[in-house]
Amino acid sequence: MAGEHQLDSDERQQLQARYAEIATLAGGLAHEIKNPLSTISMNLELLVEDLANSEAQRDRRMLKKIQTVQRECRHLEDILNEFLKFARVGQLNLTDADLNEVVQEFIDFYRPEAEQHQIEISPHLGGNLPPVRLDRALFRQVLMNLALNAQQAMPRGGQLELQTSLRDGSVHLELIDTGTGMDPKTMARMFDVFFSTKPGGSGLGLPTVKKIIESHGGRISSDSEPGRGSRFTISLPGQLLSLRGQ
Ligand SMILES: Nc1ncnc2c1ncn2[C@@H]1O[C@H](COP(=O)(O)OP(=O)(O)O)[C@@H](O)[C@H]1O
Ligand SMILES: [Mg+2]
Repeated sequence: MAGEHQLDSDERQQLQARYAEIATLAGGLAHEIKNPLSTISMNLELLVEDLANSEAQRDRRMLKKIQTVQRECRHLEDILNEFLKFARVGQLNLTDADLNEVVQEFIDFYRPEAEQHQIEISPHLGGNLPPVRLDRALFRQVLMNLALNAQQAMPRGGQLELQTSLRDGSVHLELIDTGTGMDPKTMARMFDVFFSTKPGGSGLGLPTVKKIIESHGGRISSDSEPGRGSRFTISLPGQLLSLRGQ
């Protein structure tokens, strides 16, 4: 990119060390906030129980206000949990995996929820895929985040297609939805931490997905058309079968 200068290895190491320090600090901060927050939530719950059976007008009004505070606490807790998940992506537990099998497992798990939301899942799993090195638990998180976004983009139902294929030695996975799609402004910012167009959205789903995919040596891209839907494409390096076992 114009104006961007190549980092030498010293600079890169310094940046990495600084990034690690900030990530540790942020993770610590999130934990520190979680503890008092859970004390607050617990006490609010006790207050709600105390007030729940009272008929007095004043108590009714208090109950309503406390419930608002409770909702906001839950929202904060959700954000902190998402953030901790994001910060935790570090060490991978890699095994050789058949991507089709991983995708099929996910579909079996997700289908009941999809059906509840009038979403029809159609898998198109390509043949002859080489194995990929995967952290299965993290990859499930990727699929869940992408499926959830697709679901939220199709509030009245729709179609979610999952395609796998082999292209130029890379294994590709595409998730295609028939949802709201994204305008160029959203497209430009969707991978930014805390960027969300949803009320109460954490804005951490796609940054987490990107971080997981890149830590696998893969890439993620997307294209979208407002009003028609979106496509997210993941590519992962395929294992070279001919070199294995030598
Ligand atoms: N499948 C999709 N269809 C339409 N918009 C999407 C889709 N996936 C992501 N987006 C957009 O990208 C934003 C960021 O997504 P994400 O990081 O998962 O955060 P969140 O879901 O909490 O908003 C969303 O708020 C939405 O605007
Ligand atoms: Mg999301």
